[in-house]
Amino acid sequence: MSMTEEQKVEKPEEKTEQANQEPKKEEKELKFYFEKHLNYLTNLDKTRDKYSIGFFTNEHLKVPALFWGVGALNLINSIDKHDTEKTVKFLEECYNSDGGYGGSIGQDSHITSTHYALLVLIQLNRLESALKNKEQISNYIKSLQNKDGSFKGDIYAETDSRFSYNAVSILKILGYNPEDIIDLKRATEYVLSCQNFDGGFGSIPGAESHGAYCFCCIGFLSVTGQLNLLDKVQTGKWLAERQTHLGGFNGRPEKLPDVCYSWWVLSGMFMIGTESFFDKDLLIKFILECQDDELGGIGDRPGNCHDVFHTFFGFCGLSLLKYGNLKMIDPTYAIPKEDVDKLVDALKKAYKMFEKWIIK
Ligand code: FPP
Ligand code: ZN
Repeated sequence: MSMTEEQKVEKPEEKTEQANQEPKKEEKELKFYFEKHLNYLTNLDKTRDKYSIGFFTNEHLKVPALFWGVGALNLINSIDKHDTEKTVKFLEECYNSDGGYGGSIGQDSHITSTHYALLVLIQLNRLESALKNKEQISNYIKSLQNKDGSFKGDIYAETDSRFSYNAVSILKILGYNPEDIIDLKRATEYVLSCQNFDGGFGSIPGAESHGAYCFCCIGFLSVTGQLNLLDKVQTGKWLAERQTHLGGFNGRPEKLPDVCYSWWVLSGMFMIGTESFFDKDLLIKFILECQDDELGGIGDRPGNCHDVFHTFFGFCGLSLLKYGNLKMIDPTYAIPKEDVDKLVDALKKAYKMFEKWIIK
């Protein structure tokens, strides 16, 4: 047999080898890596990197990371894998005498970590740990309102529309009508003044429209029952234009898609009822492609390193898209709908424990 003839013959073992070859990444069937995500999320606090600079510079993000981690576990029906007692104790130590929670033990209070602490406690069925301080927490929120109705994030006074959403959500969670505690009229005027001619919202008046600030501003109007103040078609159009040809949403025109905008943008659409204005299957495909198929977790875009922030918001997107068996997320409060429903019971339970309150 000449060499040329031999080359033409297919050897049986070569055929088997070819069949066993991993398909190229883009040809792989896209599935949700539940076990890998669970493993990633339940090992987040076992880092071997405790002496790196990042471990110390990220200290103020401990409470936010807790919210993203607990939220992600909850969405995949695995919150029982989280240590409730340890977390409640940790959050009690993050609580400061000014009425706010810091991002970690010994850190200054911030409106965002205060909000996240409450959202974690609701999901762990332990809201009473914060409700015993509800008056102090509401006074803290009130103290952060500026004359123009906007909110500071903390005593150092950074101000933008994120904190307006944090403020009214916190008050609602504590069982207050926001208008009984803050100047809601001015707060609303400020949020509306962050809307641009294109229908999107920016961080402050005049700032470029941005998907995440759309979530905060629409969320503010949703929490306070004022969505009627919005031109939903104009805003819905701006949100729909965030879908890129890759399926994923970007946060601003001309930017690359990023998994977290599956939440910031899509939740806005759901709140205003324009969630049919985009290609659902293409977005699911994009989020699944951002999974780390080796270590679990989700990164901001395909091939990038995973992190707990994008893992949580990727799950949130999949939940809104009703993908698989994920719990249904509430687009306004960013926790499962079942936990929002539990809130009323949690307030009643706490009322029995601390009878001085009047629950409306
Ligand atoms: C992206 O920023 C995200 C934001 C600006 C949103 C922040 C929102 C809050 C603090 C409130 C969230 C509350 C809940 C309950 C979810 P970025 O600087 O990464 O944006 P970029 O993509 O433009 O870099
Ligand atoms: Zn992102």
